[in-house]
Amino acid sequence: MTRRSCAIYATGIVCAHLLIVGIALVLAQVFQTMIHSRLKKEITLTEKSQVFASWKNPPPPVYMEYYFFNVTNPEVFLAGGKAVVKQIGPYTYREYRPRENVTFLENGTKVYALNPKTFVFEPNKSVGDPKDDIVVTVNIPFVAVMNELNSYSFFLRSFVSMYIRGLGVDLFINRTVHEVLWGFKDPLLTKIHSMKPDVDEYFGLMWKKNGTHEGEFVFHTGEENYLDYGKIDTWNGLREMSWWSSNQSNMINGTDGAVFHPLINRNELLYIFAADLCRSIHLAYVEDVEVKGIQAYRFAPPSDVLMSPKDNPTNEGFCVPAGDCLGTGVLKVSVCREGAPIVVSFPHFYQADPAYINAVEGLNPNKEEHETYLDLQPTTGVPIRACKRAQLNIILKRIPGFPKTKFINQTIFPIMFVNETATIDDDSASQMRTLLLIVTLVSNFPLLIVGLGIILLLVLIVLFCRNRQKKVGNTTAAFCALGNTAFCCKLDEKNHTVSMSLC
Ligand SMILES: *[C@@H]1O[C@H](CO)[C@@H](O)[C@H](O)[C@H]1NC(C)=O
Ligand SMILES: *[C@@H]1O[C@H](CO)[C@@H](O)[C@H](O)[C@H]1NC(C)=O
Ligand SMILES: *[C@@H]1O[C@H](CO)[C@@H](O)[C@H](O)[C@H]1NC(C)=O
Ligand SMILES: *[C@@H]1O[C@H](CO)[C@@H](O)[C@H](O)[C@H]1NC(C)=O
Ligand SMILES: *[C@@H]1O[C@H](CO)[C@@H](O)[C@H](O)[C@H]1NC(C)=O
Ligand SMILES: *[C@@H]1O[C@H](CO)[C@@H](O)[C@H](O)[C@H]1NC(C)=O
Ligand SMILES: *[C@@H]1O[C@H](CO)[C@@H](O)[C@H](O)[C@H]1NC(C)=O
Ligand SMILES: *[C@@H]1O[C@H](CO)[C@@H](O)[C@H](O)[C@H]1NC(C)=O
Ligand SMILES: *[C@@H]1O[C@H](CO)[C@@H](O)[C@H](O)[C@H]1NC(C)=O
Ligand SMILES: *[C@@H]1O[C@H](CO)[C@@H](O)[C@H](O)[C@H]1NC(C)=O
Repeated sequence: MTRRSCAIYATGIVCAHLLIVGIALVLAQVFQTMIHSRLKKEITLTEKSQVFASWKNPPPPVYMEYYFFNVTNPEVFLAGGKAVVKQIGPYTYREYRPRENVTFLENGTKVYALNPKTFVFEPNKSVGDPKDDIVVTVNIPFVAVMNELNSYSFFLRSFVSMYIRGLGVDLFINRTVHEVLWGFKDPLLTKIHSMKPDVDEYFGLMWKKNGTHEGEFVFHTGEENYLDYGKIDTWNGLREMSWWSSNQSNMINGTDGAVFHPLINRNELLYIFAADLCRSIHLAYVEDVEVKGIQAYRFAPPSDVLMSPKDNPTNEGFCVPAGDCLGTGVLKVSVCREGAPIVVSFPHFYQADPAYINAVEGLNPNKEEHETYLDLQPTTGVPIRACKRAQLNIILKRIPGFPKTKFINQTIFPIMFVNETATIDDDSASQMRTLLLIVTLVSNFPLLIVGLGIILLLVLIVLFCRNRQKKVGNTTAAFCALGNTAFCCKLDEKNHTVSMSLC
């Protein structure tokens, strides 16, 4: 055997091995399985894990933007006309939400934590000073009191109504944004407080919400099953709620929205328990997006989440009392707001029944400004960008015995909406890109082997051709040398010709 043919044989053997091993590894997905099981193991809420620190003290800044609906014609509305509102805002607060009192339970398979939220005003991201800006809005305590009295006798109602009129309480109030949000001493509530001390004198949409938590949570750490990573086990000691009217609606599903299990696929529904909405909701895949150079899946609540039970019977459980249902796009949350007729929706009644949108002038729902979404990196399940938007409304209607309400049409009246946004910080983003690069390289390692095998195969072909060309002659040799890229040389020894074709 010549040195040349020896080289050919050696190359051939190495090449065959590389191809066989490479293709076998690609088919068996050994490396991918390996890295996936590594991810499942690493992404757990244990003290040593990488994700634990950022779960405990999330690095990306969260901004809470408040927008109010300033009512410009309260008198017209009280006289039976259509209310006109003007959106004002944003009044932006930076939100700090560390996990506190973190305690591991049951051999580290569960973890207890509180999640107090603190809000610090950001003047640079706001339209004005909330302590100066006045907003005209519905007198929520008054409406709540009227609503409460609705079940009492007409005589009692008329008596209370006269008394309240004496206090000078109106259906609309002029208050600063800061007061409406963080609380003010309400004259009506103060009077009630003097009779019933358990009623708070103060009212504010975020009264007592600065620095407080939304309940005690116990989460699964994901050590037992990666799909349970971050899932809520109990909330305030409960496995399910009791205020909705069906077992399905009462379920506490999924995580609190801060973390999701790794290896997310496009077909799954992601569940989140939203304590401020008093219920669980689900999100479905919408599209692929890219945020700071990271590929992500966008998940958003599908329209069936807030669909009227007429179109989606599973929502029947959210009608309380059973059978007392509202239309599409709104959710009555009186059950967890001390009976006040509070309704939540998407901002500007996005995705809601047009009747709600048209009942008030000045609303203009659109996808870009009013949708809620969550962009998740699918391999790690880490939220890259989140935008939660929700609107607070109150039901205004005629209540017999209260002359002020005599002319008003039943309306779901918008009060304010929030836009709570967070985007991954640059440090975490670059760490994430590095991690994803490693994951991609490792899981594609077999392809590298196959690639090497193919290169060797080409080399082999060239060597082989060259070897034969020696016998064929110089013209064809030159000809065949051209073919040393992707062509296969076929030799016809009798006619001394070479034919080439694509491999
Ligand atoms: C809200 O409306 C009232 C009355 O129309 C007005 O005086 C006030 O300046 C408005 N608030 C803001 C922040 O524009
Ligand atoms: C109030 O309701 C009446 C009867 O349902 C209707 O004719 C009227 O247009 C409504 N007014 C407004 C402002 O929606
Ligand atoms: C959380 O821990 C603090 C002390 O670190 C303690 O004062 C507080 O009572 C704890 N809260 C709960 C709900 O256990
Ligand atoms: C905790 O782990 C130990 C050893 O692995 C085991 O003996 C014990 O039963 C476990 N306890 C619980 C509550 O799972
Ligand atoms: C919330 O509390 C923090 C610290 O206790 C304080 O700095 C901040 O100003 C408060 N925010 C509001 C809106 O009162
Ligand atoms: C707000 O802007 C001013 C100047 O425009 C700057 O000095 C200040 O640091 C900014 N504050 C914040 C919280 O970004
Ligand atoms: C609110 O302010 C407007 C204009 O500034 C005024 O006409 C109205 O009477 C005020 N309403 C209340 C309840 O103070
Ligand atoms: C709901 O759950 C309770 C206990 O968890 C059970 O007793 C009841 O039968 C369930 N209702 C339905 C309709 O499944
Ligand atoms: C909770 O999850 C179950 C499926 O696991 C689903 O059937 C149910 O509708 C969910 N409940 C809510 C309120 O999302
Ligand atoms: C929040 O939403 C409002 C409108 O809904 C929009 O104008 C604003 O730019 C959003 N803020 C962020 C930080 O995306």
